[in-house]
Amino acid sequence: MKKIKKVVFPVAGLGTRFLPATKASPKEMLPIVDKPLIQYAAEEAVNSGIKQLIFVIGRTKNTIIDHFDSAPELESELINKKKTALLKIVQKIVPKNVDCIFVRQNSPAGLGHAIYCTKNIINNDPFAVILADDLIKSQTPCLKQMIDIYNDKQSAVLALEKINKKDADKYGIVEFQSKEKNIYDIKSIIEKPSPKAAKSNLGVVGRYILPANIFDYISKLKPGTSNEIQLTDAISSLLNNHNIYGYEFDGARFDCGSKIGYLKATVEYAIDHKEVSKDFKKYLKNIKI
Ligand code: G1P
Repeated sequence: MKKIKKVVFPVAGLGTRFLPATKASPKEMLPIVDKPLIQYAAEEAVNSGIKQLIFVIGRTKNTIIDHFDSAPELESELINKKKTALLKIVQKIVPKNVDCIFVRQNSPAGLGHAIYCTKNIINNDPFAVILADDLIKSQTPCLKQMIDIYNDKQSAVLALEKINKKDADKYGIVEFQSKEKNIYDIKSIIEKPSPKAAKSNLGVVGRYILPANIFDYISKLKPGTSNEIQLTDAISSLLNNHNIYGYEFDGARFDCGSKIGYLKATVEYAIDHKEVSKDFKKYLKNIKI
């Protein structure tokens, strides 16, 4: 049985929902309290046993490469000033036994296209995908929960959340034939259907475990919704020959690609943040709305 050791982070999107903040900086570098979204995603992967972080980046995303690289000037400055706690924070962004690989997506042609750019790095291994703007706060990392299901079922796994049906056109929506607790045996999947056409209120959120042959299905796709190569369409063809499970994970998900989701995440993470928690809670109690 092949273990899940590789994760793909598609981070080439333009982040238009967050302009002007994302005009010159990647949306994945927006911080929640003091850590960029992409670092939360990388930590979730590493804490789930992943050894290779594969970033699919676009032209304006070079600060993501810098963030995961060493920073010799900064580090020697922190050493000189004996700021050891800060030095540790900077040095532990990528653990020593984990590799970072960066691939360029030369046109923003959709999520399926972004994933396809990693074909030769993934080779024949099953792999995970994390969309960093879906931030998930949980006791056990969401990806770890999904890997446990993958290990048990030996099939593709998609993270699911019950959504408001009127928002169906923002998600991949699944239909299922049976369920066992919070694991759904998926029958069909459609990218961003109208609320009327949606077959359920179960939306896919940004975590996937996929077999390597997903690349064969992506390579046969024509542009779909929004004229993009959609991962959802490849998953839909994969369903013809494979079981795919949907998993309603334990945890809270914040859509940090939207302003309201980002603000909610900031509040929730600040409440739990060692350094600011006490003062922030005090502030929240006295705030006038
Ligand atoms: C993508 C996927 C969609 C999924 C969503 C989760 O859409 O295409 O199926 O439900 O992520 O966040 P996007 O939000 O990139 O438009």
